[in-house]
Amino acid sequence: MRGRFFVFEGIDGTGKSTQVRMLAQSLRQRGLDVVETFEPSDGPHGRRLREMFGRRHELTPEEELALFMADRLDHVERVIKPALAAGKTVVCDRYYLSTAAYQGAAGADAGEIIRKNREFAPEPDLFIILELPPAIGRARISSLRGEEPNDFEKQDYLERVAARFAAFKGGNIVRIDAAPAPDLVHARVMTAVARFLTP
Ligand code: TMP
Repeated sequence: MRGRFFVFEGIDGTGKSTQVRMLAQSLRQRGLDVVETFEPSDGPHGRRLREMFGRRHELTPEEELALFMADRLDHVERVIKPALAAGKTVVCDRYYLSTAAYQGAAGADAGEIIRKNREFAPEPDLFIILELPPAIGRARISSLRGEEPNDFEKQDYLERVAARFAAFKGGNIVRIDAAPAPDLVHARVMTAVARFLTP
């Protein structure tokens, strides 16, 4: 049987990686074999994307989109599909809604991005979109991580990205307020995934 597939999405600073870790831990405690993963991935295209984060302007929007798509294809074939086929549960930090939201906000056709991804990328059981006002997300990045926001994290751009995340529709999308403490957000995540955990 195909394993379950849960994806966290949202703008930067919403606490996605904390929630990925907490969900994976809770699912393991229930005896599930869980693969925690993320995009941009640790494959060659993903590493190149991360290298370029501070100097995004050196890539054209088309080159950047092509790199995110190449990274997704690699990640799907190398990590996600084999894990799901083995009956493992996959918990992923970002997936194709990030491409539709971020590259869409940079000028690409978001509908076309979603259509192309669905040709090769397994559909998640659930997209969990963590919601937070962009100004708070940015403040969390600066104060908690001690980092300056990178080119993906500029305020006006993030406002447009957030508007796109707010507009996606689908039966497998749930939105959770990321403002409360991590434990409370996690409890809401567990409620959202509960219906997929009964055999
Ligand atoms: P993160 O590792 O902090 O989530 O950062 C990844 C950055 O890459 C984040 O700012 C969003 C961006 N991104 C895209 O623009 N498109 C994509 O398809 C993905 C997966 C990430």
